[in-house]
Amino acid sequence: MKKYTQDKDIEFLVGLVIEAKLPDDSIIVEIGTASLGTTVHIAKAAPNSSVVTIDTYNSPKVRAKDFEVNFKLLQKLEIYNVRLIQSTSEAFGNKYKGAIDFLWIDGYHAYEFVKKDIEIWGSKLKTGCIICGHDYTGHDGNVTRAVDELVRDSDDYEDFNVYNNLIWYAKRK
Ligand SMILES: C[S@@+](CC[C@H](N)C(=O)[O-])C[C@H]1O[C@@H](n2cnc3c(N)ncnc32)[C@H](O)[C@@H]1O
Repeated sequence: MKKYTQDKDIEFLVGLVIEAKLPDDSIIVEIGTASLGTTVHIAKAAPNSSVVTIDTYNSPKVRAKDFEVNFKLLQKLEIYNVRLIQSTSEAFGNKYKGAIDFLWIDGYHAYEFVKKDIEIWGSKLKTGCIICGHDYTGHDGNVTRAVDELVRDSDDYEDFNVYNNLIWYAKRK
């Protein structure tokens, strides 16, 4: 199984979730489930929150059958605070009503897709809550460009930072 996220990045992400001190019943959104590589850690770091994790299950390495695999694995691990969504982040985001408390973006790394993920899902983030994502560098600078334009240089966010050249994070104003 492909490991998308290095251990030290997972550890940093878990730290962001814990430091957020999310109240019970918070909603955490993850874009890009793949094989639950980050999902289970987020879910364990915030056991009283719900993790809504979205994936198309239609990419070269993550196929339709992986939805069922993920579902069974979560049951086996007795992780019950994760909701698996099979959709594009855009389609699900456009119909999702309500505010969210934490956002982790690790879906399709093309400029337009990162931009849409930030626009659609970032607008649902409550004031003071964390937006973050993976692969700030690499990918021909696509993620960097979208994140810099829509988060780093935006009046909607503050405290922008990058960890290990890969995890970018900021707070919604
Ligand atoms: C880099 S992987 C996610 C890795 C995962 N966070 C981890 O650390 O194990 C990116 C995932 O985004 C999914 N994806 C691609 N385009 C998407 C879209 N438009 N909406 C939602 N998910 C998408 C892919 O199917 C793939 O599983």
